[in-house]
Amino acid sequence: MLGLLKSYPEILLALSCFLLLRRCLNTPRGSPINWPLLGMLPGLVGNFHRLLDWTVDLRLQGLTFFFKGPILSKHDFIVTCDPANANHILKSAFANYQKGPDFPKIFDPRKAAHGLFAEAKFRGFVAETSKGNAERALVPMLTRAAELGEVVDLEDVLLRFTFNASCKIVTGVDPNCLSEQEVPFARVFDEAEEVLALRRVTPMWCWKLMSLRGLVYLHAALCETLRLYPPVPFNHKWAAKADVLPSGVSVEAGTRILISMYAMGRMERVWGKDCEEFRPERWITERGRIKYEPSHKFLAFNAGPRTCLGKDMAFTQMKIVAAAMIYNFEVEAVEGHVVEPKLSIILHMKNGFLAKVRKRRGY
Ligand code: HEM
Repeated sequence: MLGLLKSYPEILLALSCFLLLRRCLNTPRGSPINWPLLGMLPGLVGNFHRLLDWTVDLRLQGLTFFFKGPILSKHDFIVTCDPANANHILKSAFANYQKGPDFPKIFDPRKAAHGLFAEAKFRGFVAETSKGNAERALVPMLTRAAELGEVVDLEDVLLRFTFNASCKIVTGVDPNCLSEQEVPFARVFDEAEEVLALRRVTPMWCWKLMSLRGLVYLHAALCETLRLYPPVPFNHKWAAKADVLPSGVSVEAGTRILISMYAMGRMERVWGKDCEEFRPERWITERGRIKYEPSHKFLAFNAGPRTCLGKDMAFTQMKIVAAAMIYNFEVEAVEGHVVEPKLSIILHMKNGFLAKVRKRRGY
């Protein structure tokens, strides 16, 4: 007995090693190990720099995963990218899934914004503002970069563009964030004249056909981009009462749930074998129309009562910017520049998007 006690630390150590090894061997490949006391925290910490891709890796567990936090920490949560669960949480059982007790309830922006977003005048104003910004600031700035052969960070340029447009929409004042490198007015007029000249020499039917075709493909390309890179990559919810998700997972009252839109866009079970390919064609029907995908499957704009109110305006704005850029410039990524997501509640790029722009020949 004394001998056993003397060697107790070794026995304890051996027993712990055995239990840990068994746990490691029993953990499915790709899944974080549930360590005693620490739970899955080490796996989370080790993957913090690539959190979004980590939520994609968890698909090895199916579309829903239970994350065990350190003991007594109350940091257990459910990660899901199952459209059926998203439909349940964001639509059918919306009342039970809130932002959480810590989320401020002082101001409901939806109530304030709803009337405004329904106004045709406001939508028109947003489109006009974006068009004006593209013509007067974005195109001249990129023209200058093209002439000087400069490398531009397109993420930064587009963020400044969005900031400009948002300030103008919300406050009525244009902060001119793109104006530093703005070229003289003459160049802007040249731009406008070039576009108008092209319209004049192109028959109207052809122009209409071109733009309609272009818009379907452009819309599809934008949807495909948002599927793979949703600007809001995850949605955090908190269960007020106990519930069972459609996938069969039990949810206790107070459980936190993370719906990963980023992972949902990359699931074979949701989007098919080519889920990781950028293929705008998946959004186009045989008749050349945009294919409808339910909002709980294409979650970039959220679903249910909290659906993005600015969805249509966002598409208008994106199309204006994309059309202005594609029409005027050839864009080439700087060789060797790695574009990867940065950990943030909004999907940004870690190193921006360095590119060279060249004026399109013949325009
Ligand atoms: C590609 C661009 C956009 C994306 C991906 C997007 C996505 C989203 C998402 C995911 C939400 C839900 C947030 C949540 O409750 O967790 C949301 C809400 C909202 N979005 Fe957007 N949005 C975009 C552009 C815009 C624009 C341009 C506007 C305004 C002009 C806008 C106005 C709103 C408003 C007012 C809400 C609040 C809805 C609510 O809380 O009920 N969004 N958006």
